[in-house]
Amino acid sequence: MNDTPNNKNGKEEKLVTFRIDGKEVTAPERSFLLKAARANGIDIPTLCYYEHIEPYSVCRMCVVQVTRNGRQRIVTACNFPVQEGIVVETRNEKIIQHRKLLIEMMLARHSEVEVIKKLAKEYGVTKTRFKLQPSEECILCGLCVRVCNDLVQAHALCFAQRGPERYVTTPYDDYADNCIACGACVHVCPTNHMKLEQTDGIEILYPEVTLGPNNPIHIDFMQAVPASPWIDTASCIHFQTDGCGVCSEVCPTDCIHYDMQDTIEEVEVGNIVVASGFKGFDPKQMYQFGYGKLPQVMTSLEFERVSNAGGSTGGRILTPDGRNPESVAILHCIGSRDKHYNEYCSRICCMQSLKFAHLIREKTGAEVYQCYIDMRCFGKGYEEFYNRLLHEDVHFIRGKAVEVTDYSPDGLPPGKVMVRVEDTLLGIVRKIPVDIVILSIGLEPAVGVDVLKQTLRISRSPDGFYLERHPKLAPVSTATDGIYIAGCAQGPKDIPDTVAQANAAAAAVLQVISQGQVTLEPTTAEVMEELCTGCQTCLSVCPYDAIRRDEQKEKAVINDALCKGCGTCVAACPSGAIKQWGFDREQIMAEIDAVLAEVAV
Ligand code: SF4
Ligand code: SF4
Ligand code: FES
Repeated sequence: MNDTPNNKNGKEEKLVTFRIDGKEVTAPERSFLLKAARANGIDIPTLCYYEHIEPYSVCRMCVVQVTRNGRQRIVTACNFPVQEGIVVETRNEKIIQHRKLLIEMMLARHSEVEVIKKLAKEYGVTKTRFKLQPSEECILCGLCVRVCNDLVQAHALCFAQRGPERYVTTPYDDYADNCIACGACVHVCPTNHMKLEQTDGIEILYPEVTLGPNNPIHIDFMQAVPASPWIDTASCIHFQTDGCGVCSEVCPTDCIHYDMQDTIEEVEVGNIVVASGFKGFDPKQMYQFGYGKLPQVMTSLEFERVSNAGGSTGGRILTPDGRNPESVAILHCIGSRDKHYNEYCSRICCMQSLKFAHLIREKTGAEVYQCYIDMRCFGKGYEEFYNRLLHEDVHFIRGKAVEVTDYSPDGLPPGKVMVRVEDTLLGIVRKIPVDIVILSIGLEPAVGVDVLKQTLRISRSPDGFYLERHPKLAPVSTATDGIYIAGCAQGPKDIPDTVAQANAAAAAVLQVISQGQVTLEPTTAEVMEELCTGCQTCLSVCPYDAIRRDEQKEKAVINDALCKGCGTCVAACPSGAIKQWGFDREQIMAEIDAVLAEVAV
C-alpha cells in the first residue's frame, strides 16, 4: 500500500494496488472498483450509476469477477471497494453470460427502450427467453428518485408499490409542490422517461429564453471576457435547497465557494478606455408586434441564442411548441430609423437578418420573409452575401411590418401568427402566416451610461452615445485627456468596426504610455490666491472637474493636468480671481489693437 499526500481536500490518502483485466492499477483506498476501472480507461456498463450519488446497485449490469486469496466472487463494481492485491476481470466468459442474462430479462419488459436495445446489440442478444410484456420506458433504476432526494434534496420523487407493480411517482401521486424544476432527474434518466414539462403539458425547449430554469453555472457566451463561469443563485439548486454542491466536488482547483460575496475593487490608472457596449431596444414598447405576449415572437438576440449550437436546443431551430418551423418572418429596423424611438440606423440589423435567413434556410428549409425598409449592406463582402441570399429563395418584402397578431377572421393554422406588412413595391398590404417572428431590434446606449458620464466627465451626443473629440480626426478620443471610447460606447457598430476601434483606442493609450510623459495645454487657468474668496463658483462650472478646494487655505486650486484651458471658470469667477495663460487683459488688448491697426491700414 502506498501513501500519497494529494487528495483534493489536502488530506493524506492511501493508495491500493491491484489488477484489472491484467493491468496493474492503483486507486485511493475506500474508492469503488467502477471508478477505478473508468479512471484507467476500462469501460464497465452501468444503468443505475451516477458518480455524484451513493451507488444503489439495482441494475447489476456492472458485475465483474473478483479473485482474492484464490477465492472467486461475482460482485457489482459500482459499490465494491478496491482492495490491495485483488484480481478483477470485467469481461471474461462468465461475466459476459451473466450480463446477457440480465439483458434478456430487461428486454422482456423494456424491449423498445433505446439504451436496452443498444446493450442487447453490443452483447449479441437478439431475443429473450422470458415472457415478452408491453414495453415500459422506466427501467426502475431509481436514478431520478435518488438524485432528487440525495443530491437536489427537493424530495419531489419516490417509488410507489412493490415488486412488479413498482413505479416512480411524486409523493402521494400528487402534484409535487416541492419540485424546483431543476431538471436533474431528466438529466440522469437513462431512458428519457423523465421529461420537464409545464403543467399544461408543453415540453420545455428554450430554457434560456422564456421557459424553465437556466443552466445555473455557465459562461455568459463563448466570446465572454473573462471566459469564467459564474453561478446564477436564482436557479442554482444549492441556493434553493442547500443540496447538490456537485460543482464544488468536481472542480479540480477548488475554486467554488458558495459564500463568496461581490466586492468592489479600486484600481489606480492613468488611462481609461470606455467600452460600455449597448442595450438592445425593448420591443415591448411596440405593442403591435406582440413581443412578450405571443410566444412565437422573439428578438434577434434571443434567436441568436436559440440557433447557437451551445443553446438549449443544441442549435436546432424549433417553434415554441417544439415543431420544425414552416415559415419565419424577420422584421427589420425595430426601434431604429423611427422618429418615435431612435432616428439613427443601428447598422447591424440588415446583415444579422441576412445571416438568420441563411441559417433558417439551411437548417430547416422553412420559407423566410425579410420585411425591410431598405438593405444597407455596406461592409466588405456584405453586398455579395445579400446577392447570395437572393438566390437562396428568401422572400424580400420592401416595406415596414404593421403588426403581428394571433387573430385572423379566416382563422390561422395552430401555432401560427399573422404578420401584416406593407409591400411598397407592389403597393399592397400582405398578410403572411408564420411560425416564428424575429424582431431585428436596434441598439441603444448601455444601461448606466449617464452615471459613467458624470463620473468621467465626458459628453454624450444627442443619440445618447458618448461623444468623440472629432468624428474623423479623433474618433476614439474624448474631450478629456486619457479617456477613450470604443465600440458601441461611441455609437452602434458591428463586430469588425468594434474590433478596429478597440485596437485604435488601445494604440492611443500605448502612445501615451510609451511617451512616458503627458503634454499639458499651454493655456491653462490659474487661481490668484490673494483674490480668491473661496466661493466655489468655479468648481461647479468646470466641465473637466479640474478644480478642487484647498480646505486649509479655503481657496480654489486648479489641476494643470486636467485643465483644458476652456476659460469657463475665468468668466464665471465673481472676484476675477482666475486668469488664463495667454489670455490676460494686456495680451487680449494687445491682440485687439493689432487687429484694429491692420483694419485701419
Ligand atoms: S426537477 Fe429537480 S426537484 Fe423536480 S423532481 Fe426532478 S430532480 Fe426533483
Ligand atoms: S424515470 Fe428514468 S431515472 Fe427514474 S427510475 Fe425510471 S428509468 Fe430510472
Ligand atoms: S451500475 Fe452497478 S448495479 Fe447498476
